[in-house]
Amino acid sequence: MLDRLNQLEHDALDSLAQVNSAEDLAAWQASIFGTKRSKGELDQVLSVLGTLGREERPAFGRRANEVKQALLAALEARQSVVKAQELERQLQKGVLDVTLPGTPVHRGRLHPSTQALRRIVRIFAQMGFEVYRSPEVETDENNFELLNMPPEHPARDMWDTFYTTTPGVLLRTHTSPGQIRVMRERYPKPIRVVLPGMVYRYEQVTARSEMQFNQVEGLAVGRNITLADLKGTMTEFARQMYGSQQRIRFRCSYFPFTEPSVEVDVYWGLETERDRMITKGTGWLEIAGAGMVHPKVLRNGGYDPAQWTGFAFGMGVERTAMRLYGINDIRYFWSNDLRFLEQF
Ligand code: PHE
Repeated sequence: MLDRLNQLEHDALDSLAQVNSAEDLAAWQASIFGTKRSKGELDQVLSVLGTLGREERPAFGRRANEVKQALLAALEARQSVVKAQELERQLQKGVLDVTLPGTPVHRGRLHPSTQALRRIVRIFAQMGFEVYRSPEVETDENNFELLNMPPEHPARDMWDTFYTTTPGVLLRTHTSPGQIRVMRERYPKPIRVVLPGMVYRYEQVTARSEMQFNQVEGLAVGRNITLADLKGTMTEFARQMYGSQQRIRFRCSYFPFTEPSVEVDVYWGLETERDRMITKGTGWLEIAGAGMVHPKVLRNGGYDPAQWTGFAFGMGVERTAMRLYGINDIRYFWSNDLRFLEQF
């Protein structure tokens, strides 16, 4: 009977050595050790145990156990060989090479306009200005009329406008209509807000002006606010944005909704042809229009101009960013060129 055991061990190890796939290995395991439903060869041999005489049994049992352990050990060893072979085969087929570096995950970032806008807002927040959101689709009334520009007023020509098909509704040409919204909501409290967002102008696109861009409107309304407060605020802004070495200047200007009106320029430089184009030959780049809120506008917002005064500014975010990063063409901002965007 021991012969049968020895023969089984010998044959089983032989056939195991031929096994080269996971399926064959499972089949081999089933044929030797059996499955839930069928007996394996080992069981079949062991089933003779009952027929053996008393003296034969212990030796047979011991040997049977040895064979079983040997076959289990051989199975385990073969399993790792087959696994390695299988992996090797997959690698050859190119299914997956675990040694290759992974596909890099592209790191996103905020658009340079958004970065600049947040920076601007943060500086004004430190000076006590809160952010007030107002809509990009506006009424003619808020965008023009209540800002002291009745229909047909020639000053409207300063803003070439995108009109919608609904009469009296347009894409705001500046963030100034937000002034009316804030004042009407906040009266009679003092106001210190910034209004960031996109504005639209139906005009020629050049290196210094775009059809759409971001503005940050500022509005402060209170008692005894003067032009000196506006100058101080803008000067402090420039200091924090660019550092104290940045030169800025205030230039007399005209806006229907401020009196007096100024424009704020930052020094750009005047060396190249491009500098000349961007600064209109002056060496200075305009970043904001500003002034003291016109009495009519205060009244339209509900504030009595005999008791209240205020200043307002409208800052171009992309212009401000151009100076900050040394970008010499405003068209880069909306051309969606990754070579540009990835630099920020
Ligand atoms: N709204 C003006 C513009 O877009 C800028 C401005 C804002 C001027 C506030 C004065 C006061 O050109």
